[in-house]
Parts: sequence; C-alpha cells; structure tokens
Amino acid sequence: MTIPKIKSNIYCVGAKDYDRRLFDDLIPLPDGTSYNAYLVVGSEKTALIDAVDGAKFYVLQKNLKKAKVKTIDYLVSNHSEQDHSESIAKLIEIYPKAKVVTNAKGKDHLMVHLHIPEEKFIVKDDGETLSLGDKTLQFFNIPWVHWPETMMTLAQEDKIIFTCDLFGTHLAQSEVFVVDKEKTFSSAKRYYAEIMMPFRKLIRKHIKKLEGIDFEMIAPSHGPVHQDPEFIINAYKDWISDDVKNEVVIPYVSMHHSVKEMVEYLTDALSERGIVVKPFNLTVTDIGELAMALVDTATIIIGSPAVLTGAHPSAVYATFLANALRPKAKFATVIGSYGWKCQMTEQIVGMLTRIRPELLEPVVIRGKMTDEGRKALDKLAETILAKHKELKLV
Ligand code: FEO
Repeated sequence: MTIPKIKSNIYCVGAKDYDRRLFDDLIPLPDGTSYNAYLVVGSEKTALIDAVDGAKFYVLQKNLKKAKVKTIDYLVSNHSEQDHSESIAKLIEIYPKAKVVTNAKGKDHLMVHLHIPEEKFIVKDDGETLSLGDKTLQFFNIPWVHWPETMMTLAQEDKIIFTCDLFGTHLAQSEVFVVDKEKTFSSAKRYYAEIMMPFRKLIRKHIKKLEGIDFEMIAPSHGPVHQDPEFIINAYKDWISDDVKNEVVIPYVSMHHSVKEMVEYLTDALSERGIVVKPFNLTVTDIGELAMALVDTATIIIGSPAVLTGAHPSAVYATFLANALRPKAKFATVIGSYGWKCQMTEQIVGMLTRIRPELLEPVVIRGKMTDEGRKALDKLAETILAKHKELKLV
C-alpha cells in the first residue's frame, strides 16, 4: 500500500479514527473523525504539518515508515490541542534533531501541555516563511479557531493551505478528498456548530485574510481535503453571517407530560403560521443535532418543568450549552410548568448572557395545561410571527 498524497511530495500520514464517538468527552462523533498529518518533503528539508492524537501515534509511525521517512526537520504545530499535538512529544524523541515550528502562543501551550523543552522551538510570526528547499511554508495566525494560538500554514508553491481545525469535519472516510458533498456539508455544519460557532465573528476576519492568500486547496486536520475551497468557504460565509432563518428551536424536558403538551401545542401553533419548528426532547437528543439547529434559528425557546423551584437540570445544561455556543438567534423565551413555586424563568434567562437575545414573554403555567395556557401560547406564536416578519423571514 502506498501513502496517499495530495500533491507531489506532500503525503497524508495521519490517522482515521472510525470508532471514536465522543470528543473532549463532550461532543458526539457519529461518523468518527480523523487526525490529518501532512508530510511535506522539500529538496532540502522535510516537515510534518500537525500530528495525531496520542492514541493513534502507532498509525502515524506506521505511515512514516511506509513513506520511508529517514528524518523530519520540522514539526509544524498549527494548533496545540492534544488531538494534533500529543504525538509531537513522541516524535521529538524519535527525530531528536527536529524543531517544533509554531507561533509564540503555540510554543507556550506546547510547553505547558506537553512539556516540550524550550530549545526545541522555532517561533514564527504572522506571515513569516520557512524554506524546505524547493518548497516554502508560510505561517498565518488565525486565533481562536479553536484556541487562542491557532495558525494556518501555506505551502506556497503547491498552493495548499493547511488550516488544522478550521474547515474541518469530524468525518472518518477512507478517501483523502471530499467525495460526497452533501455528507461533507452536513458533517462540516455539525463541526462548525459544535466547535467554531462561538468564534464566528473572528472567522469573518480569517476568511478576509484568506482572500489575500493564493491557494487552490484546503487541507484541514480533521476530515477530507477540499479541492474545491469555495464549497466550504461559501458554507462558512452563510453560517457566520448575521442572517437567521424562519425557525424556532425548542430544547425541552418534561417530567409529567405538561411541558411536552405545551411544546406540542406551540409547535402546531407555530407551524400553522408557516414557521419551521425544531423541538428537541433533551432526554433523547444528540446535542450535536441541537447545536446544528442553533446555527440558523431566529428564536430559541427553552421548555422546562420546575424542579425544586428552579429549572430542570437538563434544561439548565441545554441553556448553558446554547449560550456557550453563541448562536446568532435574535429572540428567546421560556415555556414551562410548575407545581407550587417557580423561579426558573429568571434562572434560564439569566444564563443567556452571551447570546443577548430579545426576550419574549414567557409562558409558565401551574400544573396541567389550561385554556389560559393555550391562549398564552397562541399569543406567543403570534408574537414570534410578528418578530420574524419584522426581520423579513416570513
Ligand atoms: Fe482538533 Fe481543537 O482540536
């Protein structure tokens, strides 16, 4: 078996992780993932761009052996998170002359997280280059995609930009390049929602920066390589824009059916008004699906029963997560039911500090659904319709 290559003397030596189902012990990975590492063989020097998760170091080692690599001069670290860097600590033992090439923040992170000694580093500032002989690498800082130190590396002559996490997908497939655009789009959207959405305003700047760089291929460190960069860049342009869709997302939990009945009633009321509704019962929801729905939605409604007078812990978790992911939703509110006393509205609304939506009138009823509750939900549906019309979504 030969090592796949994406251009002359640029090889894919990373690892597929078909079985991984959770990332950071948080993010579901229905399609596994890959840790892409790219071997760039110049006429004088050899560089490895990003490495692999420590659990897959044996695959990287096997691939380097197959590629008949005798030495590595430079270990380029675009991102110090362990899924790309953990193996660097092992590689510098095998290739003791190798230098770790990264920016100043990357150096700090790698020294802290992996205890790589200071003398091992070559620090590159934004725009600086490194010659491999007939190939030149150029480094560009793109902070916060996904940690503060992240950068991307351009193979100038080959016109390939290595973007590490940015434009990645958690998608393990045997092929190197994108083959199924629909599947890749869906995986990329999930990845964006779970990892990149909190940084969408910074991504706008990074895309602007990319417009000044000459490249024909995007090689991320997760998922397939993009031979059609416009495909993924245009998808990102849509996701990071301020535009929302005529949609309402309702993450909810129901203990004794009252909240469920409210959600079902409101779902019908909104649907009848031409609004797309995405209810997520949090007891069975894949949070990745919920995150994807949050990318475009105009309105978020949290549904919860009162537990010990506050919100149900599952509703608190969903609210915390939604707030952390910072979707561009414009409106939010709470619906729910309580038995004797309830402070959950203040609790949930108080958590939406990063989204800062316009708050609509909550509908919180005592006990089982009442006619008054139905009227309040109809009124809420009318309000949402009016708000969406104001945004010209309907
Ligand atoms: Fe793929 Fe932020 O690591």
